[in-house]
Amino acid sequence: MLGKIRQVKPGEAGLLRSIRLALVKENPRTFGILYETERRKPLKYFEDDIKKFSGSDSAIFFLEINGQIVGMAKVGRYDKKDLRTGYLSSMGVLKKYQGQGWGEKLLAFRLEWIRKNTKFKRVLMIIVDGNERMTKLAHKHGFSMISRGSFYRIPNTKFELKL
Ligand SMILES: CC(C)(COP(=O)(O)OP(=O)(O)OC[C@H]1O[C@@H](n2cnc3c(N)ncnc32)[C@H](O)[C@@H]1OP(=O)(O)O)[C@@H](O)C(=O)NCCC(=O)NCCS
Repeated sequence: MLGKIRQVKPGEAGLLRSIRLALVKENPRTFGILYETERRKPLKYFEDDIKKFSGSDSAIFFLEINGQIVGMAKVGRYDKKDLRTGYLSSMGVLKKYQGQGWGEKLLAFRLEWIRKNTKFKRVLMIIVDGNERMTKLAHKHGFSMISRGSFYRIPNTKFELKL
């Protein structure tokens, strides 16, 4: 299968909305949001999201296989005021394409991008408890657990990678 990871371009809010909705539909618990809630967000929300994630240390990436967008992931700051701490979020690969190494590539690609493009000294990631695949990926790339929390009463764990 011919696949690539690339940065979202301005004007691709429609594509971003489609992949995000498909991923939320498949994994509402993981993303902590209901499909119906996400579906009500106007296109403008996704246009703004693309703008928000197009700074020198933030980006949205698409996973494109045979011309179709089948996954995505974001890089940003964990806290707007903290220039040294990155945050990996909104990662997902459509079920049909899972288990083929794309998730691992989406993670590795972003870490490489961060090392090249940002001044981050560490990167954080929050994983819902029980998400074994993502947890395995995090450990494999050197992340370690730093704290526990919850979002809408769903327990999660914060992972950190020192760069
Ligand atoms: C997490 C996710 C992005 C991983 O993507 P993926 O393309 O399936 O991942 P990969 O194929 O690279 O596999 C990653 C690891 O999971 C393992 N894995 C693959 N399929 C599996 C399965 N059916 N059951 C358990 N583990 C599996 C792989 O063996 C691999 O580990 P390894 O390198 O030790 O072999 C994807 O499953 C997904 O989108 N899940 C729903 C959304 C989500 O959880 N996002 C993360 C939010 S923090």
